[in-house]
Amino acid sequence: MKVLVTGGAGYIGSHTCVELIEADYTPIVVDNLCNSSAKSLERVKEITGQDITFYQGDVCDEALLDAILSEHEVICAIHFAGLKAVGESVAMPLEYYRNNLLSTLTLCKVLGKHGVKKIVFSSSATVYSGDNEMPLRETSKTGNCTNPYGWTKYMGEQILRDIAKADGEWSVVNLRYFNPVGAHKSGLIGEHPNGIPNNLMPFISQTAIGKRHHLNVFGNDYPTHDGTGVRDYIHVVDLARGHVAAIKYLLSHTGEGVFNLGTGTGYSVLDMVKAFESANGVSVPYEIADRRPGDLATCYAEPAKSREVLGWQAQFDQNDMCRDSWNWQSKNPNGYDD
Ligand code: NAD
Ligand code: WQD
Repeated sequence: MKVLVTGGAGYIGSHTCVELIEADYTPIVVDNLCNSSAKSLERVKEITGQDITFYQGDVCDEALLDAILSEHEVICAIHFAGLKAVGESVAMPLEYYRNNLLSTLTLCKVLGKHGVKKIVFSSSATVYSGDNEMPLRETSKTGNCTNPYGWTKYMGEQILRDIAKADGEWSVVNLRYFNPVGAHKSGLIGEHPNGIPNNLMPFISQTAIGKRHHLNVFGNDYPTHDGTGVRDYIHVVDLARGHVAAIKYLLSHTGEGVFNLGTGTGYSVLDMVKAFESANGVSVPYEIADRRPGDLATCYAEPAKSREVLGWQAQFDQNDMCRDSWNWQSKNPNGYDD
């Protein structure tokens, strides 16, 4: 059974390709490589022993998608393709709205034309409004996004919700990821940020290996147990398996489903630094810096709905996340450029 995977060469997409293959699905990847390397797919082959059908191209290209769907009988799509850097989205809003929304609109149009009315969408915890109580439930308030990236996810969800409302044959699953970290245990695939990492875990790994002098901890005066920001970190392999569970749900339901993919446990920045040091026997020098504008004190999921409805729950713990992040970083100091 073939699954169209947009953005499949990226961090979460490549891990999901592995899990799809393990679950006997065949990924068909389309990716323009604007934030990834085709080497990730060669590594997926090394892990699984299976070739991946790959189209290098843009998901906004309707003719390309039409040709792919004429060639392959797919059962559904997973839509990872998108730009994801929060700060960049503030500086380049037009490019973020264009790429993230046009790709979703184009993909849905072509899927509909081919009668493949099933899609899993990469949404984000960022769609939740900042004034909710924790933990965040799927019914918690959304909106009030603090940056254009967040709005593209909010609008992407809404587009899919409206499509499912208008045509009862559609089945859409909006997956709200919390903070994906870690890497496949082989150390062959992982996260490869361009330039200076924005996210905590790649910054910790690059500090531990000496590429960064120290980690700046953005604020230690939040109302949390140690004053630093608390997040729900989730191992990327757990996240990838959440997509396999979502496909099974898609195949037996219509309408819109929305699910949190998180562990339900929050760790602070300093918790993560200490866990990384003790899991890997390395040192992560840090300095306390100013708060980062737009950051929340605390953000973690209530994952009960995913457990009860999708039958999915995270298996990996904080130690696994830290060990696997370091395994990838130490084996590939320059990511796929090595
Ligand atoms: P990533 O950048 O590694 O992967 C995204 C992939 O999409 C890249 O390979 C990129 O080349 C490709 N792409 C982007 N625009 C494209 C287009 N128009 N046509 C074809 N390919 C295109 O990012 P990721 O971390 O793997 O994230 C995957 C998805 O999950 C994204 O939609 C992201 O917004 C979402 N998400 C990520 C996180 C996170 O923290 N990593 C959290 C929540 C949601
Ligand atoms: C985590 C914690 C920082 C870097 C972002 C996006 C969100 C989603 C996931 C896509 C916070 C602190 C970080 C550093 C630090 N992406 N930190 N020093 O902000 O929860 O979420 O990525 O959808 O939309 O906003 O993740 O990893 O950037 O930060 O102290 O150098 O680490 O302040 O408390 P965040 P993050």
